[in-house]
Amino acid sequence: MLWLTLGGFLSVLVLISTDTEMRLREELFLRSLGFPAKPNPVSPPAIPSVLWKIYNQRMGSMTPKKNQDLCFVEEFNVPGSVIRVFPDQGRFIPTSSGPPPNLCLEKRLFFNLSAMEKEEMVTMGRLELRFSQNTYYGQTFDLRLYRILQMSLKGMGSQKTSRKLLAAQTFRLLHKSMYFNLTDVCQIWRDPHKNLGLALELFHRKESTVDDCQGIQTFLYTTLLTVTLNPLQCKRPRKKRSYGKLPFLASNICKKRRLYVEFREVGWQNWVIAPRGYMANYCYGECPYPLTEMLNGSNHAILQTLAHSFEPEDIPLPCCVPTKMSPISMLFYDNNDNVVLRHYENMAVDECGCR
Ligand SMILES: *[C@@H]1O[C@H](CO)[C@@H](O)[C@H](O)[C@H]1NC(C)=O
Ligand SMILES: *[C@@H]1O[C@H](CO)[C@@H](O)[C@H](O)[C@H]1NC(C)=O
Ligand SMILES: *[C@@H]1O[C@H](CO)[C@@H](O)[C@H](O)[C@H]1NC(C)=O
Repeated sequence: MLWLTLGGFLSVLVLISTDTEMRLREELFLRSLGFPAKPNPVSPPAIPSVLWKIYNQRMGSMTPKKNQDLCFVEEFNVPGSVIRVFPDQGRFIPTSSGPPPNLCLEKRLFFNLSAMEKEEMVTMGRLELRFSQNTYYGQTFDLRLYRILQMSLKGMGSQKTSRKLLAAQTFRLLHKSMYFNLTDVCQIWRDPHKNLGLALELFHRKESTVDDCQGIQTFLYTTLLTVTLNPLQCKRPRKKRSYGKLPFLASNICKKRRLYVEFREVGWQNWVIAPRGYMANYCYGECPYPLTEMLNGSNHAILQTLAHSFEPEDIPLPCCVPTKMSPISMLFYDNNDNVVLRHYENMAVDECGCR
């Protein structure tokens, strides 16, 4: 199915069609990639280095390495086909309503996971906390991280927000990232009604000699990295059929043709981060009678050429189509400005045949 829309997409590149037709075809192709509309990043965040690292491991050259499992993320040792980095959308809570005296900072953390599709299963969720400060004043801080279970409503008296402690730890170095395992929490958050975010509290130690919150004000950012597995994308690859040695092929006979798709040329450079383009290829050529084994014809195609030789007016020759395709990995901004690394099946033609 994807090939049909990809074929449409490619012909957009090859032919010059009208604007509306082009937009329609683009929409079709985007939908097959899982986008309701063309992403248009408003304030694109920086690309997390971990995503570059995984991307480069996978796409070292223009085409993915052979035989690698794109449905397993080696970096984290978990199954998965989509890696997303969600920016935090929570707010700082003004510490005015009589906080404990050593509370330096209180913040809500919120990550909108609505970009995940229904079929996806969360195999990993990891929260990263970072401060921009490199210098270090010698204080020791205490950190508490809670999952918010229920918000207190305004005017409901003294009823406190109900929350569950996820982590409590002490730290000194501000320039190092801190990571928290939120795999189970992300699973719960798949239901948006249950996603009320987290509460983060940072205290300075009372016994600390440097008695202030200096440095912690440089709170830089928190992000949530998730790995999900889309079982529809990750079916076991079919067993490769083997064909004998190929004799010389005439140039107008069905075969794979080289086609490099450059994302800039279709105006996608502002949301597709990498690759810049890739070798998509296409199939073109005739499937003449008699259909030889080298044209990778199906039994049906062989029968069809035979029928064609009897009734050339009514029965067409078989078509030259892809018989083997390979996936690519793409790094892009989605419709919510999240950075996503995702694996797409059937994006490049490897072999053609008469079908
Ligand atoms: C999450 O993002 C979706 C899609 O952008 C939006 O419709 C929804 O309102 C957001 N939810 C929250 C709680 O911000
Ligand atoms: C994170 O937590 C999940 C569920 O509790 C666990 O299965 C997984 O091994 C943990 N991951 C790491 C990296 O510790
Ligand atoms: C048929 O398949 C073989 C190997 O599976 C491949 O090398 C060849 O290019 C294919 N034929 C065509 C016409 O692409």
